[in-house]
Amino acid sequence: MGLKRVWQGVLKGAEKAAQRIPAVQKRLEAEYAQVEQMVRSKMRPKLESLPDFPQLPEQGVPREQILSWLQQLREQETPPWKQGRVSGTVYHGGEEHSAFLSQVYALHAQSNPLHADLFPSTIKFEAEIVRMTASLLHAPATDDPTQQVVGTTTSGGTESILLAMKTYRDWAHAEKGITEPEVVAPETAHPAFDKAAHLFCIKLIRTPVGDDFKANLEAMHKAITRQTIALVGSAPGYPHGVIDPIPQIAQLAKQYGIGMHVDACLGGFILPFIEMAGYPVTPWDFRVDGVTSISVDPHKYGYTPKGLSVVLYRGRNLRRYQYFTATEWQGGLYASPTLPGSRPGALSVAGWAAMVSIGKQGYLECARQIMETAKQIRKGIEQMPELKLMGEPLFLIAFTSAQEQLNIYQVLDQLAARGWRLNALQRPPGVHFAVTIRHAQPGVAEAFLSDLRDAVDYVKAHPDEKGEMAPIYGMANSLPFRGVIDEVLRRYLDALYD
Ligand SMILES: Cc1ncc(COP(=O)(O)O)c(C=O)c1O
Repeated sequence: MGLKRVWQGVLKGAEKAAQRIPAVQKRLEAEYAQVEQMVRSKMRPKLESLPDFPQLPEQGVPREQILSWLQQLREQETPPWKQGRVSGTVYHGGEEHSAFLSQVYALHAQSNPLHADLFPSTIKFEAEIVRMTASLLHAPATDDPTQQVVGTTTSGGTESILLAMKTYRDWAHAEKGITEPEVVAPETAHPAFDKAAHLFCIKLIRTPVGDDFKANLEAMHKAITRQTIALVGSAPGYPHGVIDPIPQIAQLAKQYGIGMHVDACLGGFILPFIEMAGYPVTPWDFRVDGVTSISVDPHKYGYTPKGLSVVLYRGRNLRRYQYFTATEWQGGLYASPTLPGSRPGALSVAGWAAMVSIGKQGYLECARQIMETAKQIRKGIEQMPELKLMGEPLFLIAFTSAQEQLNIYQVLDQLAARGWRLNALQRPPGVHFAVTIRHAQPGVAEAFLSDLRDAVDYVKAHPDEKGEMAPIYGMANSLPFRGVIDEVLRRYLDALYD
């Protein structure tokens, strides 16, 4: 047993013992109540005329009434992202684009690609989303089935990652006899890999990253065992927007005859255009020998409606391990390519329409504007001596405090008080801003930098002020007892549904 595991065991034991002490229990309940209160006060629609529906109304509510509620809610909820005050989240959000997608969606609202015979057009659109995406990611033009890049559409980045991991598990079991599969991923890789490991009984080995937040190759190499089925790299990782050394990781994977998954959920639809715009980009796509699968999300920088991702494999054989079939069911023969059964065909149609209507030149122009804005924000942050950048940013800018006494989470809270929604990072503490086309609107970058300056000054002048997220993230960063943090998160989820 490694030292780390022994230490984790000791901590868990200490945590359980501590939780039996009444004073500790009382204190924890107070912390949990604070989270629940935050959800209740912040994450409930504020519309007096909208009643709660704990059960079905006896008589249906008139459609005009429902539309009126929804319109009012939309007006309440739209301004922060529309004005470019939110990191990532709504990646396009242009009015004409959104109206067009809604029009397309309405045309296919009833379609379900599970029934390919009834909805053949949605099948064409799904297949073309996969092909257009593969081509963008430099899939080789070849008749060799072992080199052809194939894939499927999925409901989002998480599903694409889940499927890739399940595929490697089943491939390694069938072709290499591996029964206790392991995957090696840098600690910056998305939690969807933990979810996959949890669901599919894979052991996920997290390896450290360097000071530049890139995967540490030596650590990854050391973590490979006879049970390893795949290595993971991100292009870029969500926390710091940094691209891992994909060519070197892929080389390692090739050397051991295992899979190499690139998580390009965030970057897959913008990095190709950043490269076309002339910026240097670490190679990460199918041009890299040894890369065997990629997850990429059109529903982020591909500007499609939410609910669309693509998982791609090098080699037709690999994709077959993703499929599910049932031959003995009394309800008939059953085959599905991804996790769900029924799928919303309208999402694929609207996704296809988004991609075809924007085209290469449209994506290129967006990437240019995003990079210009990101450069401006990066420069502004570099000029603030209290802050420092984390890693080498492209379109996602992570930063932290350059001075011990400045709490970056208090800065985050102060930005929130000024109407900005950025994302908190932990271990080490930080904040990130995923720049989108919404931030390229005139004046947004300037307003952000000015509010950031004010937020930093405010925190310097009020270092002891308790904010909203600062105490929670402060606790999450410093507390060795992870079970408490886990309980906070579960209470948060409970509160969302209560
Ligand atoms: C790098 C990366 N991978 C995976 C995901 C998961 O994507 P989704 O939220 O669509 O499931 C994200 C989401 O932000 C991401 O940034």
